[in-house]
Amino acid sequence: MTKTAVMKKNQKQSGQDKEELLKLEAKYCSWGDTVHYTDELKIFDRSEGSYLYERDGTEYLDLQMWYSAVNFGYANKRLCDALKRQIDKLPQLACQYLHEEKILLASKLAQRMERTFKEKGRIHFNVGGSAAIEDSLKVVRRHTNRNLVFAFMGGYHGRTLGASAITSSFRYRDRFGYFADRALFIPFPYCFRCYYGKKRESCDFYCVKQFEKLFETEYYSVLNPKNGHCEFCAFYVEPIQGTGGYVVPPLEYFPKLKEILDRYNILLVDDEIQMGIFRTGKFLAIEHFGVTPDIAVFGKALTNGLNPLSGIWAKEKLISPEVFGPGSTHSTFSSNPLGTAVALETIKLIEETDFASQVNSKGKYFLARFKQLMKKYPEIGDVDGLGLALRIEICKKDGYTPDKKLTDAIVDIGLSGKLTAGGKRRGLILDVGGYYKNVFTLAPSFYIEKKEIDLAIDLFEEALKKGIAATA
Ligand SMILES: Cc1ncc(COP(=O)(O)O)c(C=O)c1O
Repeated sequence: MTKTAVMKKNQKQSGQDKEELLKLEAKYCSWGDTVHYTDELKIFDRSEGSYLYERDGTEYLDLQMWYSAVNFGYANKRLCDALKRQIDKLPQLACQYLHEEKILLASKLAQRMERTFKEKGRIHFNVGGSAAIEDSLKVVRRHTNRNLVFAFMGGYHGRTLGASAITSSFRYRDRFGYFADRALFIPFPYCFRCYYGKKRESCDFYCVKQFEKLFETEYYSVLNPKNGHCEFCAFYVEPIQGTGGYVVPPLEYFPKLKEILDRYNILLVDDEIQMGIFRTGKFLAIEHFGVTPDIAVFGKALTNGLNPLSGIWAKEKLISPEVFGPGSTHSTFSSNPLGTAVALETIKLIEETDFASQVNSKGKYFLARFKQLMKKYPEIGDVDGLGLALRIEICKKDGYTPDKKLTDAIVDIGLSGKLTAGGKRRGLILDVGGYYKNVFTLAPSFYIEKKEIDLAIDLFEEALKKGIAATA
């Protein structure tokens, strides 16, 4: 049966037309998630490679791939097959019992970390990213006996209560009461919009010096100079900010920060949930900076968006059985056999494929094409990226003032599915991030082909032109 015939059959079988389904959604689904950020609601039916398909067959080129959860392409056969095999072999098992895939996956991850960071450590699994962040907070608290942490302005660590407390955006905490463990938020080196109004060429890492200054006297609130104790026991970082707008800091930044953290025994917790698993061209984004975290947190693309699995790696001294003993944390589905089986296959795929060079060369080509567009359109204020994590900042004609209205218009035009570049009616899936919600954060599939990158540029340009006309 052809794909179109399958789609038609599915539509018939489901029996509900789109309008009826949307009415049911409006009435029975909670609106507390992010679906209603836009009015352009779509119901998708199929996904493959870099594309999503609506029930009528309209094709959408996806440049955000489930916020970087699907790095290896939709319906990746090798990874889907691993899931199917596990369904036939060991589909369910309480996490209290062992299965081979969990042990092999933990070993492979810990051994990779040991090769990279020359540090022994262990892996603890969970289901979603936020849950793994919660686990990391427990490890930090257990080790330090403290609970306050530093985190970055523009950082995003999830929406459970603990993760919200260390996520800078107040919008996520507003309406949910008092957060006693709210982090102390430090400006991120977002050089295009420097918090201190400095220029990268001449700032001499003013932001690092400002952080260091906090420790100068007890009256700056973080240090007891009498015994050297710092009230803040860890610094949670995303080396490349995700939701914050795929901001790439200068390479020297993290080594400088780490020096200060080491001076005051502050742990470095590396949130790689979005940027890990080769999104930036390295297994973990922190590897670009040559510093070793005390804890690394991962999720999303570990299972390519199939049965979710997240986890933390922590240095042995933080997570050894003596300090983080049985029952320290637990979740019913934490090391579920379906998730661990897919993740194990993902790691094997990574071991057999040179994603470092593939991601870098595709990213460079994509970036160069966007830089060409930037020359044509003053509304593109900044284009940057690392590997296949790319950012396009949409501004007013001055190339600097954020233009959220134009950004939203471009998203909706892409989502309308009515673009025609490439000679066919299509849509374009874009995700918006950034401090002013004016940044397209692009996380395309690692298997995106050159001709698809060219198509993406043409579709983006068409949406941009239409957006400029609509918002003028
Ligand atoms: C850097 C980062 N940390 C944590 C999270 C939270 O993960 P989850 O949505 O799976 O709970 C996300 C999700 O986008 C993320 O990007």
